[in-house]
Amino acid sequence: MKALILAGGAGTRLRPITHTSAKQLVPVANKPILFYGIEAMVAAGIVEIGVIVGDTRDEVMAALGDGSTWGATITFIPQDAPLGLAHCVLIAADFLGDDDFVMYLGDNLLEQDLAAFVKAFESERDSVDPPSAQILLKRVPDPHRFGIAELDDAGNVVRLVEKPADPPTDLALVGVYLFDSSILDAVRAIAPSPRGELEITDAIQWLVDQGKRVRQEELTGWWIDTGKLTPLLEANRLLLEKIETRVDGTVDDASVLDGRVVVEAGATVTNSTLRGPLVIGAGTVIEDSFVGPFSAVGNDCVVRQSEIEHSVIMDGSTIRDIPRLEDSLIGKDVVVSRTQVRPRALRLMVGDHCQIDVE
Ligand code: G1P
Repeated sequence: MKALILAGGAGTRLRPITHTSAKQLVPVANKPILFYGIEAMVAAGIVEIGVIVGDTRDEVMAALGDGSTWGATITFIPQDAPLGLAHCVLIAADFLGDDDFVMYLGDNLLEQDLAAFVKAFESERDSVDPPSAQILLKRVPDPHRFGIAELDDAGNVVRLVEKPADPPTDLALVGVYLFDSSILDAVRAIAPSPRGELEITDAIQWLVDQGKRVRQEELTGWWIDTGKLTPLLEANRLLLEKIETRVDGTVDDASVLDGRVVVEAGATVTNSTLRGPLVIGAGTVIEDSFVGPFSAVGNDCVVRQSEIEHSVIMDGSTIRDIPRLEDSLIGKDVVVSRTQVRPRALRLMVGDHCQIDVE
């Protein structure tokens, strides 16, 4: 079993952050989104990993290296244009060979670990009626935004449709799929969709049309497609819910730590209140401030005389004299500061290297 992780998307819905950074490398709970996918694969026992990269390939390749950090071997497969998820399978044909594989969309985050899902497919592959593919489904309130599955009364997949205007069900296709090598025939057989992409949804439909069995499972835990600000902050919140307190940095006596808090090595907290769940990155300085629940402050940041809640602050940024910053995503090496006293809450999405002076 191999893995194919898709990390080529441009991340247009997370601009301006994605003007300078890959969307798959935006951190949630201080870890790049993509790393969770790699970890999920390795935890499921899959160490031969192909990663599709696009315009942000340099950054993605630098972040993942050869995969040895995770005990995995990573093969990078460049995609020159975003021609669809099924196109990714097509260009990965040499890497995949005849092996079964998990395809994982690099901006998806799942609560559940994938080992059981992979095992279920593998065990049924030895049965008399082996599935050629396996999909994960989740009921969603906005099915027109996803690939949607229709099942018969026995739970068999009978139809799949990509982003239907009039969705037949609310069962969305989660961005984790298992395939045998017949998907290669499927991606060669289908035509581009109206949005000009080779859709993996259409490729799976092709398998169904050929009489192949597509196994489905409904996901029980949460699932987030992190491509936009609100779901990204939601993913940050859900992952912070799971952290355990660990204080490796320095916290002075005038500070109060409340709830589950991670303070990484080399961070210093002075005369401040940290109310978890939250994480403070290595080398970060927190002074005369309040950092509230569901905040992830990256490495080498400075937070001075400010209040932060429910926000992601990326590495190297400074928040100074800000009475309240909430529901925000702040890029790398940003300075948000204020010169006059005018207390009000700020909600920001700021790209890398910006300076915001609030007057
Ligand atoms: C893609 C798939 C869609 C699936 C979704 C899951 O959508 O085309 O079928 O439900 O990922 O995140 P896209 O992210 O390309 O809009």
